[in-house]
Amino acid sequence: MWRLVPPKLGRLSRSLKLAALGSLLVLMVLHSPSLLASWQRNELTDRRFLQLNKCPACFGTSWCRRFLNGQVVFEAWGRLRLLDFLNVKNVYFAQYGEPRESGRRRVVLKRLGSQRELAQLDQSICKRATGRPRCDLLQAMPRTEFARLNGDVRLLTPEAVEGWSDLVHCPSQRLLDRLVRRYAETKDSGSFLLRNLKDSERMQLLLTLAFNPEPLVLQIFPSDEGWPFAKYLGACGRMVAVNYVGEELWSYFNAPWEKRVDLAWQLMEIAEQLTNNDFEFALYLLDVSFDNFAVGPRDGKVIIVDAENVLVADKRLIRQSRVGRRQICH
Ligand SMILES: Nc1ncnc2c1ncn2[C@@H]1O[C@H](COP(=O)(O)OP(=O)(O)O)[C@@H](O)[C@H]1O
Ligand SMILES: [Mg+2]
Repeated sequence: MWRLVPPKLGRLSRSLKLAALGSLLVLMVLHSPSLLASWQRNELTDRRFLQLNKCPACFGTSWCRRFLNGQVVFEAWGRLRLLDFLNVKNVYFAQYGEPRESGRRRVVLKRLGSQRELAQLDQSICKRATGRPRCDLLQAMPRTEFARLNGDVRLLTPEAVEGWSDLVHCPSQRLLDRLVRRYAETKDSGSFLLRNLKDSERMQLLLTLAFNPEPLVLQIFPSDEGWPFAKYLGACGRMVAVNYVGEELWSYFNAPWEKRVDLAWQLMEIAEQLTNNDFEFALYLLDVSFDNFAVGPRDGKVIIVDAENVLVADKRLIRQSRVGRRQICH
């Protein structure tokens, strides 16, 4: 009897493998009716793929020209849209080329949330505006909390957005002025006055702040000024582009001891820089993990690539509030 079992098991595992392969094929076909087309066409020039039609319930438009002109292209595997169901994080790797330059640079494209989180966002906008889960976002947006600041409001104040996300867990006026002044998704950035933003830009700003403030963190604390974050490039619809940094910290797990000492030292320096800096903002990383840091291949520099969960405290405000007789608890 026992001799019969192995062949049977072998056949069973073979048919299981075949079944798995078959269902994967069916899934692929179901997921992509135009398999070849998605390989040949640049989906990143497609307004629907970028979800530009959802604006102002989107993250910006500063990079739309580059996307629609075909200057941003997926790297090999990213082109196969049928693999999207594996890409839970909605993060894509792509390349960007300047019009008159031959070289291309690697960029990372993010939708800032999973498919489910984005669908929930749409639903909550519609529920708020119409009481129903589906609606025309364009018409609904002006009836949500994202439109609460109209052109008459002078400043983005702490009361308006406190607690919306980690970035504004306990915001100061100084932080919010800096946020408006540095907001890159507007033609004339550089002013902390809200009236210098268009209605649609104000809505985009608030929606981004509530949904995932990562692009705003990168704009307020830019890498060009020495902050250890990935460089923000721009957005189009529900797609945000940032500079590609390098491999995750994970891939250095078994690196030589000297390399690991160097990386550990850099991590401590990052902690020091985020706590004590000339700007008197203390940044606290609330999602510290090996995959949220990456290492530059050339300079070996450690950079934070996931800035969704960064809490910012204004040390100047804390110091000032200590001067009075009443001690404020922080
Ligand atoms: N700028 C970047 N450079 C290199 N890799 C990145 C960059 N941004 C994200 N990644 C990679 O994509 C992964 C997921 O991105 P992340 O922003 O952390 O998504 P999530 O918020 O879902 O965790 C990261 O763990 C990292 O491996
Ligand atoms: Mg992450």
